[in-house]
Amino acid sequence: MNSQDDKTPPAQARQAAAPATPRQVTLRVLRYNPKDPDSRPRFQSYELEAVEGMTLFLALEEIRDHQDPSLQYDFVCRAGICGSCAMLVNGRPRLACRTLVVELPAESTLAPLPVFELVADLSVDTGKWMRAMSERLETWVHEQGAEANLDKHEARMEPDLADEVYELDRCIECGCCVAACGTARMREDFVGAVGMNKITRFRLDPRDGRSDDEFYELVGDDDGVFGCMTLLGCHDVCPKDLPLRTQIAFLRRKMLKVGTT
Ligand code: SF4
Ligand code: SF4
Ligand code: FES
Repeated sequence: MNSQDDKTPPAQARQAAAPATPRQVTLRVLRYNPKDPDSRPRFQSYELEAVEGMTLFLALEEIRDHQDPSLQYDFVCRAGICGSCAMLVNGRPRLACRTLVVELPAESTLAPLPVFELVADLSVDTGKWMRAMSERLETWVHEQGAEANLDKHEARMEPDLADEVYELDRCIECGCCVAACGTARMREDFVGAVGMNKITRFRLDPRDGRSDDEFYELVGDDDGVFGCMTLLGCHDVCPKDLPLRTQIAFLRRKMLKVGTT
C-alpha cells in the first residue's frame, strides 16, 4: 500500500488534530485613557482559561464581560475583514480576531498600535490617519474629462487585470503595516505601505487617467517611496498577505524613472 492509500494520519498530524487542553494564560494589557486627567499608562494583568478556538478578540470579550467592563478595544466584523481589531501582541501588529490564544505564550503583552491617535487602552483611531492619507494621495479613480454620470455602465476590464486590481484592493486598512514601519514613526506624513499599495492599485486601473508624472507628485518624495527604508516589516505583518514587497519595489522603480528623466 502506498502512502496515498494509507488513510491513517501520521503521528504528527494526529497530534495537530487533537484538541488542545485548556490552559491558564495571562494577558498584560497596557491601559491608558488620554482623555482622563487621572489616568496614567500602566500594565494590568488578566488571567483566563484559553480554550481551543478562542481568539484574542473572544478573550478580550471574556475579560470585559466577567472581569473588567472598563477595558477598551475595537472590533466590528470578528472575521478579519473590517481591520478594526489590530493591536500589538507581544510587540507585533496583529488582528485580535485572527489570533488564537492557545498559540500565544503563557503570558502575553497587549498594547495599542503606535503611530495612530490613541483613543484609550487598545483602541486607536486608524480612520483619521487613513482618511488623511487617502486625501493626500487622492485614492479614487480619476476619470479624464468625464462628467460624473451615475447612469453610465461600468467600464469593461479584462478579467486578468480585474484580478490584479482586486488583489491590491483586499487591503482592509487595519494599520498593521504602518505600526510596523520605522519611517512612519519618524515621518508624520509618510504614506506607509498602505498608501503605496493604493497608488499601485490606481496606477493599474485603466479607468484612472493619471500619468506617472502625476503619481510622482504624490509619492515621489521622502513622505512617499523615497522615504521607505525597504526593510519590509510591513510585508511581514500584513494580515491579508498583500504583495507589499513587490508593489513597493515596483512603484519605486517607476518613480525613480520619472525622477531621472
Ligand atoms: S496593507 Fe495589509 S497591513 Fe497594511 S493596512 Fe492594508 S491590510 Fe493592513
Ligand atoms: S518597507 Fe517601507 S513601508 Fe514597509 S515598513 Fe519598511 S519603511 Fe515602512
Ligand atoms: S474585528 Fe474586524 S478585522 Fe478583527
